[in-house]
Amino acid sequence: MTARIIDGKAIAAQLRARVAAEVQRLAREHNLTPGLAVVLVGENPASAVYVRSKAKQTEEAGMRSFDHRLPESVSESELLALVDTLNADPAVHGILVQLPLPPQIDSQKVLSAVDPAKDVDGFHPLNAGRLATGLPALTPCTPLGCVMLAKTVHASLAGMEAVVLGRSNIVGKPLIQLLLAENATVTVAHSKTRDLAEVVRRADLLFAAVGRPEMVRGAWIKPGAAVIDVGINRVAGADGKSRIVGDVAFAEAEQVAGAITPVPGGVGPMTIACLLVNTLRAACAIRGVPAPAL
Ligand code: GUN
Repeated sequence: MTARIIDGKAIAAQLRARVAAEVQRLAREHNLTPGLAVVLVGENPASAVYVRSKAKQTEEAGMRSFDHRLPESVSESELLALVDTLNADPAVHGILVQLPLPPQIDSQKVLSAVDPAKDVDGFHPLNAGRLATGLPALTPCTPLGCVMLAKTVHASLAGMEAVVLGRSNIVGKPLIQLLLAENATVTVAHSKTRDLAEVVRRADLLFAAVGRPEMVRGAWIKPGAAVIDVGINRVAGADGKSRIVGDVAFAEAEQVAGAITPVPGGVGPMTIACLLVNTLRAACAIRGVPAPAL
């Protein structure tokens, strides 16, 4: 069997088109244009690529984009002052501080300083707690995109065996909560898990978010499983050029899985599309207009 390829690029484009249509409606009916502020500290090239792509897609969706660049040497108090300014700015409905931050800055302190109503990353402890307790919350974009992709394979995830590889605050932990909310049976595996292959073999739905290139082998995968690969790892190719691979050995896995996301072109494009969804939702909530179903 060869797996169906889950085309994250196309699914993300459809989602962005729905967001753009809603943005037009909000402008027409409520004189509201959602605004997203992105804060980039330093010169991390991967972060700079993400941030450019975010700004472009925000504008293409008809939203306002505010870019703030601070030097690598910025102090924590200067960054906190910028967050305060954005919290108070009525044109800004979403605030994203790109991670990682340099070592002189306490990331948790910065993430906790963002107004929870504008926390489009869903990283504020209040939003994490709301998600964990089943209250409406802004939810982290990558896990949100993962669940959306899984639901293109299975309309209902209820009762399915889901295995999440990885327990980060950005992906693994919120993903567990989102899958529980979908009534999946969730197992979490991580670097200390024994018999990882055996655990992975249970999964009808496998989410790999460990940041280890091609760690998950084809032989670990249950035949017919849906595989969502969150990994983005740069490795040296045989020709000496670098290439991007996921956390799953794709060529092996696609022989066994029922459906699988490619890397690139799977989860990656969904993250920014979900950021636009969160910005739209935040703008609606702040203005007190009903959020559209997307
Ligand atoms: N760095 C890598 N992924 C993310 C993300 O989803 N949000 C932020 N703010 N920084 C990141």
